[in-house]
Amino acid sequence: MPTRPAHPRALLLIPAGLALLAGLDGALLLLGLAAPVSSERWEQVHGPLMVLGFVGTVIALERAVALRRPWGYLAPTLLGVGALALLAPIPLRAGQALLTLGTIALLLVYRAIWRRGPALPLAVEILGAASATGAAALWLAGVAVPFLAPWLVGFLVLTILGERLELSVVGLTTTAQPPRAQVLATALGGLWLLAAATALVLPTVGYLLLGLTLLTLVAVVGTADVARRTIRTGGLTRFMAAAMLAGYVWLAVAGATWLVAGPLWQGPGYDAVLHAVFLGFVISMIIAHAPVILPAVIRRPLPYRPVLWVPLVLLHASLLTRVLLGDAWGVPAAVAASGVANIVALLLFVMLAAGSVVLGAPSSRPRAAEPAPAAPALTLGTTR
Ligand code: HEM
Repeated sequence: MPTRPAHPRALLLIPAGLALLAGLDGALLLLGLAAPVSSERWEQVHGPLMVLGFVGTVIALERAVALRRPWGYLAPTLLGVGALALLAPIPLRAGQALLTLGTIALLLVYRAIWRRGPALPLAVEILGAASATGAAALWLAGVAVPFLAPWLVGFLVLTILGERLELSVVGLTTTAQPPRAQVLATALGGLWLLAAATALVLPTVGYLLLGLTLLTLVAVVGTADVARRTIRTGGLTRFMAAAMLAGYVWLAVAGATWLVAGPLWQGPGYDAVLHAVFLGFVISMIIAHAPVILPAVIRRPLPYRPVLWVPLVLLHASLLTRVLLGDAWGVPAAVAASGVANIVALLLFVMLAAGSVVLGAPSSRPRAAEPAPAAPALTLGTTR
């Protein structure tokens, strides 16, 4: 299939990719293992680097593509450069300040998109971006990372759920799609910010609210998600649906843990909640959407191949081992071993996705028993 040359904006994936690699290096150090780069600083910045530097840059890039205005690229540029500054031997505050500016630029991008067409799912995403600004600004002000967790979680969870709500409407064949889900999710998004602020001053109340809000969000958005129907299809659509549904389950696990255990700022419970959200939900959702987002950003197709199931299954199986055997059962070796398997799963997905882009679409031999091709394409952002 003829392809257009990659767009220069794809260069912004370089700082995001470096942030991911350095974040994984920091993860090895946090697990108490040897890492290619043994840097105390990289270990210290692992969380914000992964959330704001890696995923934040990718989200801001995708939003800038949707906005189609050159200034929109300021947001992913600031976040990407901010990530690199976190890694460099310069004062930490430089990186923190750049990340804060990047999240503010992201809010401005959202404002411009909102002016074109206000919509409730977009409001949920804006609340997510506000949560990112909250996290970055609080970090810059000297608040320690464990206390920022609800803000970091809010950024990625609200952004992704907003996108899912929007796409659930696009994919629907009936008009019965509840705007109720959108109204509820917007209210819950607002409640999230309130709960995150409460958690800073009244942790017991704040974390109870956070747990309840997260569980209700999963119930509201998860049940409205087209993935519940598309899981019964085949090929890419089924792959995406499986990754998304597994993500919702992990989000519910995180919500239930916060609800039952209350404030968690360190230890096994902290590790379990954070990675249920960030690996189980966020990375699974990224894996689900990569075959539709990446082509919009780099202008090259990422053809689906069944081998993509391998990193997806490895991610969830290793996370289950980490949470159950490592965190809940208290076997430190299991945390380390399954943590390494988490890293392998992520890197394997990146390599397979890159290989699939380079190789292009597999030659299409007609197969009698092949299920119907993927139902309506789930396109992110590009629909705006
Ligand atoms: C790929 C495999 C990963 C491994 C092995 C890993 C490992 C770890 C470990 C061992 C900790 C310390 C937990 C504790 O203090 O009890 C940690 C913290 C954290 N991780 Fe990960 N992580 C991974 C991926 C991610 C991803 C993808 C994200 C976000 C997108 C993320 C976000 C965080 C955050 C926010 C913290 C808290 C940092 C802090 O308290 O300073 N991690 N991670």
